[in-house]
Amino acid sequence: MTTDPLVVFTPSGKRGNFPVGTPILTAARQLGVDLDSVCGGRGICSKCQITPSYGEFPKHGVTATEGALSDWNAVEQRYEDKRGLKAGRRLGCQATVLGDIVIDVPPESQVHRQVVRKAAAARAITMDPATRLYFVEVEEPDMHSPTGDLERLERALKDQWDIPAITADLSLMSKLQPALRKGKWQVTVAVHKSHSGATASITEIWPGLHEGGLYGLAIDLGSTTIAAHLTDLETGEVTASSGLMNPQIRFGEDLMSRVSYAMMNPGGDKEMTRAVREAIDDLTKGIAEEGNIDPNLIVETVFVCNPVMHHLLLGLDPVELGQAPFALATSQSMSLDARDLDLTTMNDRAQVYILPCIAGHVGADAAAVALSEEPGKSKDLVLIVDVGTNAEILLGDTSRVLACSSPTGPAFEGAQISSGQRAAPGAIERIEIDPATKEPRFRVIGSDIWSNEDGFDAVIATTGITGICGSGIIEAVAELRIAGLLDSSGLLGSAAQTGTERMVPEGRTHSYLIHDATAVGGPRITVTQGDIRAIQLAKSALYAGARLLMDEMKVDKVDRVVLAGAFGAHISTKHAMVLGMIPDAPLENVSSAGNAAGTGARIALCNVAARVEIERVVGEITKVETAIEPKFQEHFVAANAIPHKTDPFPELSKIVSLPDLTFNTGGESDSTSGGRRRRRRG
Ligand code: FES
Repeated sequence: MTTDPLVVFTPSGKRGNFPVGTPILTAARQLGVDLDSVCGGRGICSKCQITPSYGEFPKHGVTATEGALSDWNAVEQRYEDKRGLKAGRRLGCQATVLGDIVIDVPPESQVHRQVVRKAAAARAITMDPATRLYFVEVEEPDMHSPTGDLERLERALKDQWDIPAITADLSLMSKLQPALRKGKWQVTVAVHKSHSGATASITEIWPGLHEGGLYGLAIDLGSTTIAAHLTDLETGEVTASSGLMNPQIRFGEDLMSRVSYAMMNPGGDKEMTRAVREAIDDLTKGIAEEGNIDPNLIVETVFVCNPVMHHLLLGLDPVELGQAPFALATSQSMSLDARDLDLTTMNDRAQVYILPCIAGHVGADAAAVALSEEPGKSKDLVLIVDVGTNAEILLGDTSRVLACSSPTGPAFEGAQISSGQRAAPGAIERIEIDPATKEPRFRVIGSDIWSNEDGFDAVIATTGITGICGSGIIEAVAELRIAGLLDSSGLLGSAAQTGTERMVPEGRTHSYLIHDATAVGGPRITVTQGDIRAIQLAKSALYAGARLLMDEMKVDKVDRVVLAGAFGAHISTKHAMVLGMIPDAPLENVSSAGNAAGTGARIALCNVAARVEIERVVGEITKVETAIEPKFQEHFVAANAIPHKTDPFPELSKIVSLPDLTFNTGGESDSTSGGRRRRRRG
């Protein structure tokens, strides 16, 4: 039996006996304990911090006495003087084993640390990015055995970090010699290891130990907005988040009008490509400023986007996506140099990863939702709806996953709504209508106080009441239905029919007056018949897409519904169901996932294995094409009623009873039934 001291690591529980004098870092490595090190045990990076525990540990069968580790040494003291170590901490590469000991590895010292996501049900991200920092000591050149500096750096990486081979491009080569000499043959390199097994490449080099960090961007490139998260590639923390409008809007509001622009204007696709790339450069500059970092430290970028944006980003003509059979130039994931996309603000050698597309209308954004929400691992049947200008819909469980996209148009985002606006301070985001008095009360973004409560005027003094955002209009339409002001066909009643003067005539239809500040030069905010129609079109497209997937799955109901999308997080699930945006399900099983596509991008940025996983998962997803499926039109027409013409909503009726009424204005010109105009994809 060995008399070597026993070392027990927590939280992993890994244990082993080691000869006296073994550094803790070495013991950790031999046991496969996740303990970080950038400097390779030279006592300069401080990544290897550990906390020794002394005393009786019956659970581990260990008694650790003072003196079980070597004394605090000069290297640790130097670090303590320069930066300070937390009380009780030691450097794992300096402290050596003298007796039995229990060693705790704090989360920040773990290489593959878990990044806890906010939503309780959401998966944690394990840090394992494609690009990492390595500190190396490189042999000095010797006239008698002539080798290049790069070859000696390569050998050092092999010997000290087990990286078998590296490539470095010309632009890096020009930095190599000054860095090596300035660092006195000690340098830190950022090495990108591809998940496809390609030779590792050096992205950046710094003399000595680089302590400025390493960053990546997760970018959700949407047709309307571009959102980015600046992420620390060592900790996984989001350092800054920023977004801007997609400048391609000037070429067409929805995707199909951008495809038309490319078709009708020679060189139009190039123009749109240039616009979006410039915007990404601007966004990179802005987010680096916001995060207070040098943009040169951004070495990785992951994009998720719909197929049209995917092609326009890559500089590919999107015309084929405008007509059946909607062929993508490629549906595979892409690994590129940022330079290939003319992205010049981030590091010159930054690497770009674009998630795979699922099909001609189901893009990398839907793949990212699948990566984030993992429908294929769900035991119960889950419907995931990513609400945006184009809705991405996934339905699945462990048996199979189906996906489609549906052209909802921008109404859910407040566009094409008479008083609609983007979600910004001053926008009405919540509304309730009293079924007895038919009077509204509402809340605007930036205030927690309802409009009928004391202090409301003071709170909104700076923002005012400016319009209705997407979640506000969904609630407004649903509340109108609940309060008996809107019938199931989507017709608003008159003042006489409903008994409230808030129903005001507007041509041959009626509008519901929410707020009138015209007397003081402010806005008059109403829900018009046209607004109701726009919402009906959008929600019918969404529901029809979901129904089509349910047909394919041969089910009439789903167990769970997840509303995703940047704005999906703000939608009231009850109101979404009253409206019939989503199929009937127990309300407690309807949840919001926030920006799932953006989260998927972050996962692929922080964890290289996730890239392998999503490439596999996408191959297993069954695509359902809504545009050529005749049943889609049938479902679309039936879904026009609120909540639905034929589908029952038993779960909804347990929590709210919708009045059974029919208004007949006799003059309502906008037909409510069959043959509705279909919104173009966008
Ligand atoms: S490994 Fe770098 S300080 Fe210990």
